[in-house]
Amino acid sequence: MQARFRWTTFDVTGSLPPGWQQEIAAVAADADFREFPRTPVLSREAPSVDSIPRGRVHADQVRDRLPWLYEAYRGEFLELAGEAVQESVLPARDDRYGVVLNVQQGTSMRFECHVDSNPLTGLLFCTDHPVGGELVFAHDATAADIDAVERDCSVIRPHAGHLIFFDARGHPHYARPLTAASGMRIVAVMNFYTESFPESTRPSELNRHLYGDR
Ligand SMILES: [Fe+2]
Repeated sequence: MQARFRWTTFDVTGSLPPGWQQEIAAVAADADFREFPRTPVLSREAPSVDSIPRGRVHADQVRDRLPWLYEAYRGEFLELAGEAVQESVLPARDDRYGVVLNVQQGTSMRFECHVDSNPLTGLLFCTDHPVGGELVFAHDATAADIDAVERDCSVIRPHAGHLIFFDARGHPHYARPLTAASGMRIVAVMNFYTESFPESTRPSELNRHLYGDR
């Protein structure tokens, strides 16, 4: 039987540096905004969808411009990740996909419907959205597009300063578009690995697609 979807939330507001939201917003404004082609292997978009518009701040920019976030990923957040799964957890060794920011601006962007390749993902919500921008997880592992995800799902509303952990290898998920044209949704996404499911399991197709690896 498929494991029921669950997640763990930590409110880390008190341990983030003063002005963290403004600092992240300034970096997010310079994100790489464009149509991103669907991801090989992991995409759960309808066949008619070739690309999805959104913004991304790449890992090297996060490291250079938000050093406290890069450090928290290997420090405090890593410890919380271990608490969430009761197993020893490791950050990615490859700096290209450790921590990135996903950004949605206006109402036309959303995040691709996909399954994760890593056994544990951490998301730090950096903005609040009473409506729109929800993160939606399918209960059905075979959901193959956003309509199927929406039919039976868990919905998480972004709260700035909340750090959530989940295993979504078997739960297709996506982020809904915003409802306010002036809105900006920012989330820091962190890949974690475990001893039983190490970084070496990451599909090589993914690195070829994202970074042109051979
Ligand atoms: Fe994901």
